[in-house]
Amino acid sequence: MSHPLEQLRDDALREIESARDAQSLDAVRVRYLGRNGSISAWGDRMKTLGPEERPIVGKLLNEVRNAVTAAIEERAEKFRAQKESDALANIDISLPGTPSERGSLHPLTQMLDRGIQIFRRMGFALADGPDIETDWHCFDALNTPPEHPARNEQDTFYLADGRLLRTHTSTVQIRAMQAAPPPIRVIAPGAAYRRDEVDATHSAQFHQIEGLYVDENVSVADLKGALEFFMRELFGSDTAIQFRPHYFPFTEPSLEVYIRSKALKGGEQWIEVAGCGMVHPAVFEAVNKARGDNAYDPEKWSGYAFGLGMDRLAMILFEIPDIRLFSQNDLRFLKQFA
Ligand code: PHE
Repeated sequence: MSHPLEQLRDDALREIESARDAQSLDAVRVRYLGRNGSISAWGDRMKTLGPEERPIVGKLLNEVRNAVTAAIEERAEKFRAQKESDALANIDISLPGTPSERGSLHPLTQMLDRGIQIFRRMGFALADGPDIETDWHCFDALNTPPEHPARNEQDTFYLADGRLLRTHTSTVQIRAMQAAPPPIRVIAPGAAYRRDEVDATHSAQFHQIEGLYVDENVSVADLKGALEFFMRELFGSDTAIQFRPHYFPFTEPSLEVYIRSKALKGGEQWIEVAGCGMVHPAVFEAVNKARGDNAYDPEKWSGYAFGLGMDRLAMILFEIPDIRLFSQNDLRFLKQFA
């Protein structure tokens, strides 16, 4: 004669087998294994059994519970699979799909990314600042006096409230130094704006990667090494680089950077690609004044800064003849960089 638990199990298995859908299967589960289910009830009944009977019934209860649980799982899985294949049966896989147009990065973005990648390998961290700036960040803090021509309304886009569109990314030098004491080694990629006459090589909005390195004993040799490495990574190891004396209010000495490479179009020509120099002590002093400390003590720290013309570099690298192509949104142009 079989134990009542075995009877329960057989009943349960039969009902599981004949369940028509997931819902009725769940009802079976509740009836047998739910908190008040008839198999579960045996758990309480165990306490009333004698010591010889208890282990035997306990073992049986486990087996029954496992068998019923497994059967329910198996049946549930069948329902799930069925549901899935029913859903698929209604899809005509021979229909043509809806193509999703894939976008791609703008050549200038690609150029900036490449530049950032190279400087990151040299240990530069990313910094940034707003395109809309105070004239203090753009000029005063960068040792550019009020009468300097760059501050002229003819050269700079001013907002009604006196703020302006930054004319260079050098503003981020100031912001980075305000935010953290030396040593500091940052690059700041971004847009800059000037009221230039727009032509094939001039645009009112252009892009730079600013660099700033301040530490003890930083020299022009460090600056030269970093920019040389950068240009050779970008344009190949036979790229020649030349530094010519120049003037910027915020660096002393100041230099312009030219490159030349046979691999480049117009190979024999020197092309200007950056401005750079050693950070002027007056810039450190302006930062100290704003910080209210002497963190950038010009007696202790020195630094170099550079600003790379990224539109120019992209035009060289990708052989783009006209800077206006960057902003005309012509897909025939953009697709060539996808
Ligand atoms: N800000 C300068 C420019 O836009 C470039 C520059 C940056 C020069 C840093 C020196 C140091 O022309």
